[in-house]
Amino acid sequence: MADKVAILQLPGQEPIELPIISGTAGNDVIDVRELGSKGYFTFDPGFLSTASCESQITYIDGEKGILLHRGYPIDQLAEQAEYLEVCYLLLFGERPTEQQFVQFKQTVTRHTMVHEQLIHFFQGFRRDSHPMAIMVGVVGALSAFYHDSLDVTNERHREIAAYRLLSKMPTLAAMSYKYSIGQPFVYPRNDLSYAGNFLNMMFSVPTEEYVINPVVEKAMDRILTLHADHEQNASTSTVRLAGSSTSNPFACIAAGIACLWGPAHGGANEACLTMLEEIGTVDRIPEFIAKAKDKNDPFRLMGFGHRVYKHYDPRAKVMRQTCHDVLEELQIDDPLLDVAMELERIAATDEYFISKKLYPNVDFYSGIVMRAMGIPVSMFTVIFAMSRTVGWIAHWIEMLQAPGQRIGRPRQLYTGEEMRDYPKTPRE
Ligand code: SDX
Repeated sequence: MADKVAILQLPGQEPIELPIISGTAGNDVIDVRELGSKGYFTFDPGFLSTASCESQITYIDGEKGILLHRGYPIDQLAEQAEYLEVCYLLLFGERPTEQQFVQFKQTVTRHTMVHEQLIHFFQGFRRDSHPMAIMVGVVGALSAFYHDSLDVTNERHREIAAYRLLSKMPTLAAMSYKYSIGQPFVYPRNDLSYAGNFLNMMFSVPTEEYVINPVVEKAMDRILTLHADHEQNASTSTVRLAGSSTSNPFACIAAGIACLWGPAHGGANEACLTMLEEIGTVDRIPEFIAKAKDKNDPFRLMGFGHRVYKHYDPRAKVMRQTCHDVLEELQIDDPLLDVAMELERIAATDEYFISKKLYPNVDFYSGIVMRAMGIPVSMFTVIFAMSRTVGWIAHWIEMLQAPGQRIGRPRQLYTGEEMRDYPKTPRE
């Protein structure tokens, strides 16, 4: 007998007692699993009021602007931990000891190379392919190379796949960029940090030494930390659902990349910068604010709004500071930052945005930072995918380890035709 129950009175039936379950924090949930046997489904398109699973990885309080990874606030992690330490925390649940962290970093570092055969796989793409199109294809293709770690019921296989994905995503991401600009691929280097290695693979060329700017390296590491995980967002839910069919990890992560690509989700950072470039100058902001308010205009202010955060996205606060640090260090006076700051100021005082609780999200400033770092716009979401891979993996493993794990199979409200006979007469 549950401590708390919700009483549901269905027509012509005895009242049903639905258990109410409390978590460590956040909303209680009403366990509706028995409703199907009573002839009813819950109806919640877009999952506005649905908890799809139990999880211990990340907690978000949208009203208070709180984001915790294994209980630790995101602003503290961004300030005090490097990305790979956050990866360890997300995957294993606790902060690593020094020895554990050294071992973890060494394992990740030593698996950054990809099979040479994969180079030919890239050559099947047009040079002007969007790097996200390449990433969806190439990451999914990893399952054609690693037959030795595809038994998702095997804990060791799950761990090997996790390390391979975490290690190889930066290499594949940089390769997708190099391929698109016709430059030679750059091999990973074991003497560099995770973020530094990625920058080197992205920007170094055989003809001269590439010097990593430590401020840019730290900013890249922080961008990766800020995007590492975010509860049951669309792409993580995609990975969980794909994984629930016991599909291999590389195919599941490719599904997550495909979902993240959408401008309503991870593609917003690219779309946000494109929007700021379209606005161009501060005096044109009112024109775009009006478009965003116009119900007949599909235009939305990219980088604003969030399904969960209804005051501010704590990641946006950290990203904003990182943005100023990088622009100051690189002595860049980016007019788009002026546009972004003015847009943020106007939106914060405009009744429409206040009433709809539309505040800058993590994607609002990340595009400006990455542009300042010389990252091409087409790579923004690729970097988001690179960062989020650890979150996807952590949820994929948690889902497979969940007691009574079964394939996800939602039902529907059917409003189509009633049963009817197919005509035997000749087509008219
Ligand atoms: C990410 O889920 C996550 O955790 C995602 C993420 C993560 O880390 O994984 O945080 C990453 O995806 C951040 C969000 C990036 N997307 C954008 O910046 C794109 C612009 N934002 C919107 O498309 C929208 O705000 C969403 C998709 C983010 C949230 O959509 P919801 O919760 O479904 O909200 P909604 O579309 O129902 O909008 C509610 C109202 C609507 O008006 P009404 O129909 O009630 O009159 O607000 C309006 C919308 O028209 N609205 C906007 C708006 N976002 C919502 N109006 C103008 N500009 C916007 N950006």
